[in-house]
Amino acid sequence: MTQGPLTTETGAPVADNQNSETAGVGGPVLVQDQLLLEKLAHFNRERIPERVVHARGAGAYGTFTVTADVTGYTRAAFLSEVGKETETFIRFSTVAGNLGAADAVRDPRGFSLKFYTEEGNYDLVGNNTPVFFIKDAVKFPDFIHTQKRDPYTGSTEMDNVWDFWSLSPESTHQVTWLFGDRGIPASYRHMDGFGSHTYQWNNEAGDAFWVKYHFKTDQGVKSLTQAEADRLAGADPDSHQRDLRRAIERGDFPSWTVGVQIMPVAEAATYRFNPFDLTKVWPHADYPIVWFGKLELNRNPENVFAEVEQSIFSPAHFVPGIGPSPDKMLQGRLFAYGDAHRYRVGINADQLPVNRPHATVARTHSRDGHLYDGRHKGAKNYEPNSFGGPFQTDRALWQPVAVSGVTGETEAPSHAEDDDFVQAGNLYRLMTDEERERLIGNLAGALSGVSRDDIVERAIGNFRQADGDFGKRLEAAVQALRG
Ligand code: HEM
Repeated sequence: MTQGPLTTETGAPVADNQNSETAGVGGPVLVQDQLLLEKLAHFNRERIPERVVHARGAGAYGTFTVTADVTGYTRAAFLSEVGKETETFIRFSTVAGNLGAADAVRDPRGFSLKFYTEEGNYDLVGNNTPVFFIKDAVKFPDFIHTQKRDPYTGSTEMDNVWDFWSLSPESTHQVTWLFGDRGIPASYRHMDGFGSHTYQWNNEAGDAFWVKYHFKTDQGVKSLTQAEADRLAGADPDSHQRDLRRAIERGDFPSWTVGVQIMPVAEAATYRFNPFDLTKVWPHADYPIVWFGKLELNRNPENVFAEVEQSIFSPAHFVPGIGPSPDKMLQGRLFAYGDAHRYRVGINADQLPVNRPHATVARTHSRDGHLYDGRHKGAKNYEPNSFGGPFQTDRALWQPVAVSGVTGETEAPSHAEDDDFVQAGNLYRLMTDEERERLIGNLAGALSGVSRDDIVERAIGNFRQADGDFGKRLEAAVQALRG
């Protein structure tokens, strides 16, 4: 801000910012005091609706650098050359808490990344977990209602959380992950990121591939125990946010090594798991990670509200060479985010500095609406036009996907080794005995907050189906706590 006298919103100098204008000394306040009215009115409108999920977060700008040639798999221009750099903006978040909630909680972390590419902004809106609780978008509002405050008590209720999870056996894998050692990251810098869904890459020749993104933290994974987190959440509710900002301020730039698992399209139909099921991973033995990039965060936002609160990310923001898969969760998300942005920030949200393309310009015929900035000046706002308006490229961003059958509310096709418990059991069996002990302690602690026996028993039953030993030890631990 330039130096000079304090002014009103319209730039007139302010004589007194300490005393409002009154009718006589000690008399009532006058409506002609523009400064007072303006300040009170602006203050009343400082908040916009918080994100319905992932309300609490922190952001940073950075640089993505290509480290290996992936042009055989995608024609995305920002991935076209080893050494090529692209500006990025990331927003990390927790999921369930409201805007003022503490950072150090057991909850997935959001990992939203915007690449400002020369072919438009590409958003990868992932989490720090490779899987999710459910596999159909139609269940998302119900699921989130159980994570948020109960309509009667106004509090988060363990009964609701575990009622839903225990009745949704497909959540067993993600819940096992969440209550394990990685469930409470020490900071946003010390966690991995995942695109989670399967996405499509397609190359210059028109070949398509299914891919899953991985971001491996170069800081090493560090987590908090439940007891450490409980202490920290009280002592410093902003722990993650503060840690990220300070690291960047002192030049200790966090970075992630970026890779993809790549599945040739022809292998999808017969793969042992449904490759579009978000509750499952692709074991690395089946599809190893191909490392191709480095993400470094190196600049803090100057204004948290403008750049973090008003930032928008959407899984539907693709660029040529990258596209969606038929994952039913992803398909629902392709609608939900743009809709949320229009409600939360407004129809011109994508024109704000943090959201607009940085390496190209948006050329659309959309106009006007709340807070339109007039950027198109007098240009024609229709197509076709004979005034040199923008033109279509006749080349789809992604390759078509073969479909068959009739319409209907169908479950996704099941594959040979699909079931809701196999990968949760595999995860449990991968853990050391100390890791299992902590997992069971965390689960038992949470389950002991549930008031109804039938919910507790049903929940334990799911873990028993994942692994007999898992179920047995959990049952004993819950009994010991609940008496
Ligand atoms: C069908 C399932 C889902 C729906 C309907 C949904 C919907 C939403 C909505 C409405 C928002 C708020 C957006 C905003 O106000 O800007 C949001 C935020 C977010 N979601 Fe989802 N979500 C779903 C599943 C997922 C999954 C599976 C992931 C991760 C793999 C995820 C990651 C995120 C992240 C990281 C944010 C925060 C974005 C930001 O930083 O601005 N969501 N989600």
